[in-house]
Amino acid sequence: MEERPDMSPTMEQTRSWLAAVPQRRSRRTFDGVAVTEADLDTLDALCRSFRPYGDARVVLVREAPEALFRGILGSYGKVVGAPSALVFLGTPAEDGSDQHVGFTGEAVVLEATALGLDTCWIGGSLDRKLSAQVARLMPGERVFAISPLGHAKGEAPFSERLLFGWGKPKKRRAIEELAPGSAGWPTWAAAGLEAVRVAPSAMNRQPWRFRMEDGGLVVSSQGVDTPGVTLALDCGIAMLHFELAARAVGGAGVWVDADAGSRDIARWLPEGP
Ligand SMILES: Cc1cc2nc3c(=O)[nH]c(=O)nc-3n(C[C@H](O)[C@H](O)[C@H](O)COP(=O)(O)O)c2cc1C
Repeated sequence: MEERPDMSPTMEQTRSWLAAVPQRRSRRTFDGVAVTEADLDTLDALCRSFRPYGDARVVLVREAPEALFRGILGSYGKVVGAPSALVFLGTPAEDGSDQHVGFTGEAVVLEATALGLDTCWIGGSLDRKLSAQVARLMPGERVFAISPLGHAKGEAPFSERLLFGWGKPKKRRAIEELAPGSAGWPTWAAAGLEAVRVAPSAMNRQPWRFRMEDGGLVVSSQGVDTPGVTLALDCGIAMLHFELAARAVGGAGVWVDADAGSRDIARWLPEGP
């Protein structure tokens, strides 16, 4: 297991991002109105400063070409009218980059939510070549996913409601399914699991599973990777949600990557009692 550099969210970030967790919902139809320069500057600064892992980063695209988002089935599920975008990048040669991209990217998504902006992780229906161009990739980097950024139109169109069940909360797995036998776990673990439950994942598959082992909490993945989006990326998103909620109840700790080649993604090592 390899330790990650200590670049945990600050207490202020922890509070603000955790408050955004229940507010966030994937939105795909935008009103086309530009995001304010002040909000774009805030997000740009975060993209540049929040780099807990060396092999993952987010690039803000202030003016996003509509062609970045290609529809799943013609116009179905297509993102429309987004003035700006986020591009989630990683360096795949290094082990663990998928979860690093998920962790880092979700921080920017939650900051956007805290600013009152709407987003949607997109791992399937995107133009990777165009995304790479607008994000100005460095050698070795790859586009893992993108997100529209802007203000969603008040009412989701019929196609969006039909496809994604917009309007009611997305179905989530029970805590007992995500973490069997977790009823007696410490407060920080219970708080973390609640925040994980509402995390976004590709096709809402919620592939993360948790088990307590030697005083640490191991997150592992269940299911099969789909083209474009790995289960590990989803698990990285869950890791950020977990960390925010655990820290907020005083449960400091650190994520340590699991060795490559197993279903285990990382282990949360609590600090102190
Ligand atoms: C890594 C990742 C990739 C995703 N890819 C797509 C996509 O290609 N197209 C899409 O419409 N939604 C995509 N989604 C959004 C999910 O469908 C959504 O997060 C999930 O259904 C839960 O809904 P919620 O985000 O509103 O809570 C993706 C989500 C994640 C985390």
